[in-house]
Amino acid sequence: MPLRPPNAIEKTAELLGCDPDHVPRSVAIIMDGNGRWAKQRGMPRTAGHQEGAKRVRPIVTEATRLGLEALTLYSFSIENWNRPPEEIAVLMNLYAEYLRQERHTVVENDLRFRHLGRRDGLPQEVLDELDETSRAAENGQGMTLCLALNYGSRVEMTDAVRTIGQQVAQGELSPDDIDETTFSNALDTIGLPDPDLLIRTSGEMRLSNFLLWQLSYAEFYVTDVHWPDFHVDQLHEALRAYVRRDRRFGGLSGTPKT
Ligand code: IPE
Ligand code: IPE
Ligand code: MG
Repeated sequence: MPLRPPNAIEKTAELLGCDPDHVPRSVAIIMDGNGRWAKQRGMPRTAGHQEGAKRVRPIVTEATRLGLEALTLYSFSIENWNRPPEEIAVLMNLYAEYLRQERHTVVENDLRFRHLGRRDGLPQEVLDELDETSRAAENGQGMTLCLALNYGSRVEMTDAVRTIGQQVAQGELSPDDIDETTFSNALDTIGLPDPDLLIRTSGEMRLSNFLLWQLSYAEFYVTDVHWPDFHVDQLHEALRAYVRRDRRFGGLSGTPKT
């Protein structure tokens, strides 16, 4: 269990007007709408990405303060390689720069850090910064920050099936012993709680190949606000909407939360 700021859960429960056991453990965000934000202002899409990158630090810091165990940010999907090379180049530079610049935020907030997604295909500079950030967070005791970069859920699951298949072929695992835990443990998110809440900015009602397995019972919150306009207040609003939900997990109202 991560170390949380003292009384974080109690304070968050007070802020959200809920019982401490209704405070979410894990939140995932699809940070969408940078392009539309820029277009509305007559600016190039890349200006939206630059502005969007600035919103990450305050949200990460607030998530830590609120006592979350994990925050997962979707920053580049495998399908995003379909964009024009010039936009991709700007994004890759931005990831490398952001990771370098924000390393102190990771250390100061005592974060653990995890990259979700494939390394193959990412520029060496980005890989080096990811590795350096992981190293800087090695002794982190607090919230886990997951950056989904070159991530696709179907690829993650296909890779997991391959890994499990190899274990079976080598006689290390019997097919009869394969259960949900075996599968979860073969994913990039091994050991992390499934997100309780998924936030998507910019209004689209879709998952875009994000955490298909892990979001099975997450509550969805979609806002029309574009990511560069998503501030701490909007995070609180999403969390307030979450605590009003009745999570039944297939049971009936009042079913104890798992
Ligand atoms: C999200 O914003 C950033 C990435 C996917 C990298 P978009 O670039 O998708 O912005 P819209 O959806 O075109 O407005
Ligand atoms: C999802 O946004 C991926 C990220 C935010 C990184 P997209 O903009 O790529 O999603 P689609 O194309 O609208 O589904
Ligand atoms: Mg988009």
